[in-house]
Amino acid sequence: MSQEELFLDSGAAGQLQSDVTKKKSRSLLGLVVTGVLGGSLVALYAVTAPFLAPALRKVCLPFVPATTTQVENVLRVLRARSGTLVDIGSGDGRIVIAAAKYGFKASGFELNPWLVWYSRYKALREGVHRSTSFHISDLWKVSFAQYSNVVIFGVPQMMDQLELKLASELSSSAKVVACRFPFPTWVPEHTAGEGIDTVWVYDAKAFKSHLQHGMTRKTTPEHEDTPESHT
Ligand SMILES: C[S@@+](CC[C@H](N)C(=O)[O-])C[C@H]1O[C@@H](n2cnc3c(N)ncnc32)[C@H](O)[C@@H]1O
Repeated sequence: MSQEELFLDSGAAGQLQSDVTKKKSRSLLGLVVTGVLGGSLVALYAVTAPFLAPALRKVCLPFVPATTTQVENVLRVLRARSGTLVDIGSGDGRIVIAAAKYGFKASGFELNPWLVWYSRYKALREGVHRSTSFHISDLWKVSFAQYSNVVIFGVPQMMDQLELKLASELSSSAKVVACRFPFPTWVPEHTAGEGIDTVWVYDAKAFKSHLQHGMTRKTTPEHEDTPESHT
């Protein structure tokens, strides 16, 4: 082989080598981009799915946090009470944390794990982690029998079913506070606030006996904003 042929041959081999290297680095870049994109999509799904899941359930109960006035109204109507409190569907934990600061031993039950972890972090940061507990649970699968104060910010579609559940589980000394949407057949003891911040208070003694006697709907509160003084 002549000197010239040798030179041409090594030039072609060099070109081939550089083409292979370029192809390799392109496919590596493709792999990295696919990995990053795929990872981001999985992460996005993991974060958003728990927020979107409630919309796909039979009863859609989305995360809508209570307003500051709503939280104040809940504490106002429970001001003469003490002991245990539960917020059913506790969201970011604002009612539970406010109640704990007020002296209640407060718990939250929430389907969305991100909101539960955030609530625990917030309770720790605000110094009420010892008097609060947050559970990742479906509200329809747990019993609220042990709680003497129950708070619910629900939606109208679930309230009739929740009436039956709470009437069968709670003790006669319990109080239930409904935020924004009242229970359909229970007669509220009193109400506080107005518009979207309205809360209704129900006495378990009354609604348990209504359940036993099969009493029907009455929407007018007996008293407006006059809480009882017993706990
Ligand atoms: C209207 S938000 C109320 C949040 C909180 N209680 C407040 O007042 O700020 C209702 C909450 O219930 C939660 N939720 C929906 N379905 C649930 C279920 N089956 N069990 C437990 N929590 C549920 C939602 O994720 C949402 O955070």
